[in-house]
Amino acid sequence: MIYLDHNATTPCDARVFEAMRPYLCEQYGNPSSTHQFGRAARRAIDRAREQVAALVNARPEQIIFTGGGTEANHLALCGALQGQPPARVSISTIEHASVRGAMECLASQGWQADSIPVDEQCRVMAGRMELHPGTRLVSVMWANNETGAVQAIPAIAKRTRRHGALFHTDATQAAGKLALDFAASGAHLMTLSAHKLYGPKGVGALVAERASLLKPMLRGGGQEKGLRAGTENVAGIVGFGAAAEWARLELNQRATQWRALRDRLEEGLRALGITAFAAGAERLPNTAQFSVPQFAGETLLEKLDQSGFTLSSGSACSSGRIAPSHVLTAMGMAREQMRNVLRVSLGLDNSEADITAFLGALAQLTGSQRVWQAQNVA
Ligand SMILES: Cc1ncc(COP(=O)(O)O)c(C=O)c1O
Repeated sequence: MIYLDHNATTPCDARVFEAMRPYLCEQYGNPSSTHQFGRAARRAIDRAREQVAALVNARPEQIIFTGGGTEANHLALCGALQGQPPARVSISTIEHASVRGAMECLASQGWQADSIPVDEQCRVMAGRMELHPGTRLVSVMWANNETGAVQAIPAIAKRTRRHGALFHTDATQAAGKLALDFAASGAHLMTLSAHKLYGPKGVGALVAERASLLKPMLRGGGQEKGLRAGTENVAGIVGFGAAAEWARLELNQRATQWRALRDRLEEGLRALGITAFAAGAERLPNTAQFSVPQFAGETLLEKLDQSGFTLSSGSACSSGRIAPSHVLTAMGMAREQMRNVLRVSLGLDNSEADITAFLGALAQLTGSQRVWQAQNVA
């Protein structure tokens, strides 16, 4: 099997797993306990907080550990606005389901949701961003999970601050793939998730300029400055810390490897007459999303799966049918162009041979074998 779906999740790095192991079996203290076992667990969390903060140039006290990116997005939107009289919130039209879900929660409490559009290259235009009077919070993701398009976060944050609103960015897909600087970004709040950067699933963080911006969603314990009640997932947090450290140390090398493979992939796709979506935008180095119009059926993903290639379309699949992607719809794409959409998201385990094999399989399935061979001979 060739795994090409790293934006969905990554394997846990063996070095990360080794760092976690003692905190599952030997150092199992509760970090709230004052005895030696508890103190050891507390120290491990403190170290992980430093490691995660270093990845995004934040201060350790700005990191609030959560049960993943979804929870961090809820804490950002609902936690920041809780207790305020309902007004308006703006989110971009390409946000992840977890931001949209948090927005729905707020809407049910009377908040008005406004949409920030993107252009045909999946970009929010900061200069043209219209914010209504009464907008209290704006949320725009750092990089899109489907197309990989990267947003001009500092400009968008600046525009939001001028308006007097809070700015949140979901950096779940950007962290570990791009150099992120929370301090310089202008964001008040930023979401991270461990399992997109070779850490474990079920652990993430909200980075907050200051804790006073937030009210807890979960109550009944003083953990994480009272902002996230519940005994900490010590091993998971340690794993997040280790994954963040490796991501920081190896960032340039990883990005260079991904970019070279992605360029090779897109060169091969062009030979098949296929252009990646949002190719005119800055994109994550590991991501290419495209449609394969030559394929007549609806089962290209399934056929690739049978041939040993694990990837996704990037859009939600409900009751066996691929729903039209809200991201591609927001880019103004016609329904016809959204047929047979594939998203390749590369990881550390991918090689040039994987790309060659994938392109070969695609060419065979789409009946373009002759074109592919001719290109390769040439
Ligand atoms: C952009 C984005 N935000 C949030 C999430 C949710 O993160 P988690 O799976 O840690 O809840 C994902 C995961 O798919 C994502 O891609």
